[in-house]
Amino acid sequence: MKSFHLISILLLSSIFMIQCNNTPYSVEGDKHILDSPNNDMQVQFWVNDAGSPMYQLIKGDETVITQSRLGLELKEGDFTSGFEVSRIDIYTANDSWEQPWGEERYIKDEHSGMLVELSQVDSGKKLLVNFRLYDDGLGFRYEWPHYTGLTEFIVMNEITEFNMTADHMAWWNEAYIPNRYEHIHYETRASEMDTVHTPLTMKSDDGLHISIHEAALTDYSAMSIINRGNNKFEATLFPWMDGTGDKVRATVPFVSPWRTIKVSEDAGGLVTNYIDLNLNEPSKIDDTSWIEPGKYFGIWWDMHVLTKSWASGKDHGATTEYTKEWIDFAAEHGFDGVLVEGWNIGWDGNWVNNANAFNFTESYTDYDLPYLTEYAQSKGTNIIMHNETSTGIENYEAQMDEAYQLYEDLGIHAIKSGYVGDMIANGQWHHGQYMVRHYRKAVETAAKHKIVLDVHEPIKDTGIRRTWPNMMTREGARGQEYNAWAVDGGNPPDYIPTIVFTRMLSGPFDYTPGVLDIMIEDNAEGRDLNRVYWTQAKELALYVVIYSPLHMAADLMHNYEKYADAFQFIKDVPTDWETTKVLNAEIGDYVTIVRKDRNSGDWYLGSVTNEDARSFSLNLDFLEAGKTYTAQMYVDGEDASYEDNPYDLDIIEKEFKKGDTLELNLATSGGAAIRFVMQ
Ligand code: NOJ
Repeated sequence: MKSFHLISILLLSSIFMIQCNNTPYSVEGDKHILDSPNNDMQVQFWVNDAGSPMYQLIKGDETVITQSRLGLELKEGDFTSGFEVSRIDIYTANDSWEQPWGEERYIKDEHSGMLVELSQVDSGKKLLVNFRLYDDGLGFRYEWPHYTGLTEFIVMNEITEFNMTADHMAWWNEAYIPNRYEHIHYETRASEMDTVHTPLTMKSDDGLHISIHEAALTDYSAMSIINRGNNKFEATLFPWMDGTGDKVRATVPFVSPWRTIKVSEDAGGLVTNYIDLNLNEPSKIDDTSWIEPGKYFGIWWDMHVLTKSWASGKDHGATTEYTKEWIDFAAEHGFDGVLVEGWNIGWDGNWVNNANAFNFTESYTDYDLPYLTEYAQSKGTNIIMHNETSTGIENYEAQMDEAYQLYEDLGIHAIKSGYVGDMIANGQWHHGQYMVRHYRKAVETAAKHKIVLDVHEPIKDTGIRRTWPNMMTREGARGQEYNAWAVDGGNPPDYIPTIVFTRMLSGPFDYTPGVLDIMIEDNAEGRDLNRVYWTQAKELALYVVIYSPLHMAADLMHNYEKYADAFQFIKDVPTDWETTKVLNAEIGDYVTIVRKDRNSGDWYLGSVTNEDARSFSLNLDFLEAGKTYTAQMYVDGEDASYEDNPYDLDIIEKEFKKGDTLELNLATSGGAAIRFVMQ
């Protein structure tokens, strides 16, 4: 069902009255006011005495964003002041659409919209600002249709402000430092932030949860947020690194990404907020039947714990023989893919600096690509190709078409790509317009060849999976690999309950869970601090807590044989969901998520805590009425603790019905993973 309602208001004089029933729009003094569909959120827009566009955002009686400026500095002129409003279009929509795969099958898109046309009195040029207001957040973007008086232009700065009413708690990651987004989030008052990546998560002392991010970053530079002091925050864009200072190069018609502000009374409401997806264009791929969620193994952990190498030679992991073993193992356990890293020429020497050495079609001589691909397919599984670029973008783009064609010809449908390097080899940022364009090119080329992508060292997700459903998952945070080799020993106990409300608000996360060998007995000598800093039950819970349509089972075969009972949960858990609910959450402390399988009546629960043990009484009112469920529960044993007894796992079966209460006891850095099988 879709309803569309448009009112155009030509502003001929500064004093006018709106006489239209059922409009979400009203005027108070100089303020143009737009209400959300349920009237709980309100955005107010006006032009101040200097002619600067201003906005503020209100939820109920709380101001979320107070008096904040909008505008841009272009090479072609200053677009931050001297404006008057020349036209306003009001529109509404009440729609819903289906995700081909996802954490939620049907996404509701109900919003009020206000497109403001601004005219700059002196230059005669125009700038449009489009506001789209939902009951749980705001999106707005700048638009330059043909008639703005510009043809080609360069954004030197965007001065969009996000001014807060108080010094909220904030969870953040520093921008403009090496190693991209792969850092532990800080938890401080927002006043202590420097310049930070988005999603930026905040919580007011009144308990309002706020997340600032962007949607539909397709041909722009990524936005980060700069702290100007006094609770004032401003957008900043990564520059082209060629001495020009240019941030964005544009040709009209052109739109910026949507700047999004999600608002929720509880932390869980941020997780089930889908405005970023709604603000992306519908799918450009008509037939999505070849895009399949699933689980994969890989010749991968071996290289991180140093039992094998990417490079050729006696330790080479990607051999025909070893890959066959993994294919057999995947077939035996019903896995959809085997990732093979180190299969192609280019890994010898210091691969981090091998930007131009990688060949994406030529295998090492001990790896028989056509044979293995056919063998995998004959066993009902498939090879996942690995394309590490080490940031050699020109080298990769020059081979992209030919390589993707080869993979398509072989019947391969998935690539894991990688961009390891502090900066791109030619000096650009991973987050600037140059790389946004590259990542976009890869997605579009992959779609042409019916290939899905799992991107490591990616640009952050901004919901483009709606438009390109072959853009399935990405890393963009510290993954499992940090447990193998990080000098700090690995991801700390509060990592997961923090990342759910920070990095994961942007989209699917390829964390590569499933290391059941918690103390990492397989690891190389000397890595004394390295381990998984939680219990085995918590590691299993990641398959539900972390959303990714492609989930890895990262451990080595012998560990799955050793911990076969725990491994059963990894085998059973699906990666495609009908719906998702957050049962309880406190950022950085704990979170419990339930998801319903898309292809059966079963529900799955994942619960994780930080270093504190906790007990929960959870109401199971999400289960279907009148049905009985057998719960297969993988929970911390009575003596479990992440420090001394991380392997203490109880596997229990119990029956539950809708409305029953589930008692859970989580150990220190513990968790629970439960499959509710509908009888
Ligand atoms: C970093 C990725 O995160 C990891 O998964 C991969 O194994 C290495 N790069 C090599 O490409």
